[in-house]
Amino acid sequence: MPILTQHVVSTLADRLAIRQQAGLLRQLRLVTNQIDFCSNDYLGFARSGNLRRAIQQADMNQISLPTGATGSRLLAGQTELADEVEQELAKFYQTESALLFHAGYNANLGLLACLPQAGDTLLTDELIHASMIDGARLSYATRRRFRHNDLTDLENQLRLATNFQTTGLSHPLGQVFVAVESVYSMDGDLAPLGELTDLCDEYGASLLVDEAHATGVYGPTGEGLVVALGLQKRVFARVHTFGKALGVHGAAVVGPAVLRDYLINFARPFIYSTALPPHSLLAIRCAHEYLKTQPEARELLYDRLTYFRQRVSDLLPGSSWTDSQTPIQCLIVPGNEWARHAAERAQQAGFDVRAILSPTVPAGQERLRICIHAFNTEAEINGLLDSLTIGR
Ligand SMILES: Cc1ncc(COP(=O)(O)O)c(C=O)c1O
Repeated sequence: MPILTQHVVSTLADRLAIRQQAGLLRQLRLVTNQIDFCSNDYLGFARSGNLRRAIQQADMNQISLPTGATGSRLLAGQTELADEVEQELAKFYQTESALLFHAGYNANLGLLACLPQAGDTLLTDELIHASMIDGARLSYATRRRFRHNDLTDLENQLRLATNFQTTGLSHPLGQVFVAVESVYSMDGDLAPLGELTDLCDEYGASLLVDEAHATGVYGPTGEGLVVALGLQKRVFARVHTFGKALGVHGAAVVGPAVLRDYLINFARPFIYSTALPPHSLLAIRCAHEYLKTQPEARELLYDRLTYFRQRVSDLLPGSSWTDSQTPIQCLIVPGNEWARHAAERAQQAGFDVRAILSPTVPAGQERLRICIHAFNTEAEINGLLDSLTIGR
């Protein structure tokens, strides 16, 4: 191996060794035969034979379509099917338009990188997902964080940003954007969307909401929290992802028609990437059709969640949980070692539960992240909580 290449190899190995010593080495591991309290498959769609058969049937009905999209949507990858699915999504999510992306990561990256421009201000909740952070890093706007779900802090920052926008000579036309998640992925708590939209209206800011963990779970038919609260006309853009409760993959940015045209022109993950293949488009369509027929899956999910929370107060009194009413329930186990140890105990008892360690969450806030699903039985919930009780 050339000396220079050897140097790169040893640098990479050193960095991995440092991670390993800190107990933070990420490794891929197969999950076998453990009861799922980890995945984002909240409604059990990813394991549904009915949905699988519907997708297979849709594939068979469209046998003339190519297997791959063969290019970006701006080149060979554009199809009537993609346009149709986007129109269906816009209707379902009760807005003017939708634009598909390969995943929520790409959607957030594309949206946040290109929407706020130089001279604009992007205010982000301190706990937003890495994909929004990465998009914000690529943007030329000024980025400021506000404390998690803290409306006073946000208002102070809005005041500063809008004063600056109106009086600052260098940025006379700057816009202000506020980016939040509706259900926070690591704490499971909800954004105060009503108050956030009021504040954004008051200061003329545009609200961007990542609905990754609310899609399929909230709303009359799973349209997300924004629709559940009737705020769809007041939120500028939403990101819906289909790899979680919808059980398939992909994502869409939904909002006004001009936003779709804008993203087609400026969102680099959309422009410079081969389009989703027909199979994926059909899977996204089928998953949404299936969602409309499954109100009982959502009811079961809420039932199981209520049961879980009742059992927590019976079996683990005094334990410390994040303030979550959603299927993402987090037991705080301070310290990476302790959190890892607690997760291993649950895993040995047959439950797939993962520890979330610092620095992913702040030190002292290490936790077990437990995802409740419609398919988790009461016996499984009891078994999981027992495994956490023993040895406390
Ligand atoms: C809040 C949030 N937004 C976006 C994403 C990315 O979505 P996807 O998995 O479709 O890339 C995730 C994934 O974990 C997420 O939790």
